Amino acid sequence: MQITLSTDPLAAIDTDWLVVPVFESSEFSHHVDVLNTALGGLLADLRERGDLTGKPAEIVTLPVAPGIAAERVLTVGLGPAASLSVESLERALLTAIRQVSSHKDQRIAVALPPDAPSSLEPLLLAQIVATDLVVGSSGQGLYQAETSRFPFAQALVAAPGSADSQDELQHAVQRGEVIGEAVNLTRELVNRHPGEVYPETFAQRCAQVASELHLQCDIFDEPRLKLERMHALLAVARGSERPPRAVVMKYNGAGQDAPTIALVGKGVTFDSGGLSLKPSDGMKSMKADMAGAATVLGALYGIARLKLPVNVVAAVGLVENMPSGSSYKLGEVLQARNGVTIEVLNTDAEGRLVLADILSYISEQDVDGIIDLATLTGACVVALGEEVTGAFTNNDEWCQRLLGAAQQTGEPVWQMPMFDSFNEQLKCDVADVKNIGTRWGGAVTAAKFLERFVADKPWVHLDIAGPAYAESSKPHREGGGTGAMVRTLIALAETDAD
Ligand code: BES
Ligand code: MN
Ligand code: ZN
Repeated sequence: MQITLSTDPLAAIDTDWLVVPVFESSEFSHHVDVLNTALGGLLADLRERGDLTGKPAEIVTLPVAPGIAAERVLTVGLGPAASLSVESLERALLTAIRQVSSHKDQRIAVALPPDAPSSLEPLLLAQIVATDLVVGSSGQGLYQAETSRFPFAQALVAAPGSADSQDELQHAVQRGEVIGEAVNLTRELVNRHPGEVYPETFAQRCAQVASELHLQCDIFDEPRLKLERMHALLAVARGSERPPRAVVMKYNGAGQDAPTIALVGKGVTFDSGGLSLKPSDGMKSMKADMAGAATVLGALYGIARLKLPVNVVAAVGLVENMPSGSSYKLGEVLQARNGVTIEVLNTDAEGRLVLADILSYISEQDVDGIIDLATLTGACVVALGEEVTGAFTNNDEWCQRLLGAAQQTGEPVWQMPMFDSFNEQLKCDVADVKNIGTRWGGAVTAAKFLERFVADKPWVHLDIAGPAYAESSKPHREGGGTGAMVRTLIALAETDAD
């Protein structure tokens, strides 16, 4: 979708839907005031009657719009101007955009939200509107004859008489569009069914992205994985008909001496639990257990397309976790790439085994900070709910950088404790470590397990088991893959470039 910038007065924009964000209990901005006058005072009347309040995400539709060039007007409430945040803004914009995109072949123009006393600059606003136009118009009905969400026939960002240069605004719109496409790449991979997305096809998709963007891409097949001593990853894959893969991609946007960020993703393309089989209900969404890997690929795609001046190495471990005669067994002892031996006491704690080898590999490389993303534990969802990402680290400074980026993008992330006392739970009589702890604090013990495989590199583990996948749709977001944390990783790379 090509999004363009318009600096025309709102009343002059020829479109099917003119989307106008308004604050609660404050005067209309100058441009909305002018629009109101062209509409014969209709917006002011509605406000007077209490039918248009500007409360968060309130939608008011004018199905006819006499006196202006647009066919319809749709106002969306932003809440009080003083409390505008990226999160509340996106909620409002996506609600409006998703509503319009439920109709086929529509032309849409979204007015930039008015200048607010908050810290949101017009350029950032333009970027966010563009991202939301891309994300909000794409759905999860990938296999439906008749989908319920349609791409726009035309999409405009309306910035009437803006003080910023047109070039800068146009640039921000393009940047926003790329970020939206990065988020959608992750969503699409998560949403595709597991008969289609398995280790080999996921790896092919990586190769395709890499060749499109001229990235280095190395795909490890089984012989190579053995050569690389990735025995923990190989053990998880053993029960499946589908052979495993690992993919290492490199984007060099900065000089050789510049720091390199490593992104690592869990790519379990289907998690049945293996011999420790999941109940059917818990298995239903396990096509999404590769969301960590998909997030890494989406972020790398965005960073490379934006040509950010940073170096990134991305590595994903791709397996299917299945029960069969060749499955790895309970009591089996595995040796990970870094030599650590692991007693398997639950084959459903497979993500940490895949990550053990990939993290060992990546921490041997010349990288300055590691971030891994994984739908790792149900326990993290119990702790933080479905929308909050858990962050675990061995280096507070590195974690603060990530949390700062998350704050900029409005994605909720919460740092979790990493007390060494949790290591008690992983103590093992036959090997160096067990792959499960007790019932309690499961998200932390999983992170403490991973910590053994990052040597002493600054590392943040992001457990996205909750936010990566949504069971159902809400007015402001589609169900299915969400693309959570793609924006934040791109923002982190952006701040690293400064
Ligand atoms: N992929 C799951 C974690 C998960 C659960 C992700 C729910 C998304 C939603 C992971 O492989 C898993 O099965 N973890 C187990 C660990 C346990 C066996 C120690 C869990 O959380 O129950
Ligand atoms: Mn599992
Ligand atoms: Zn899993």
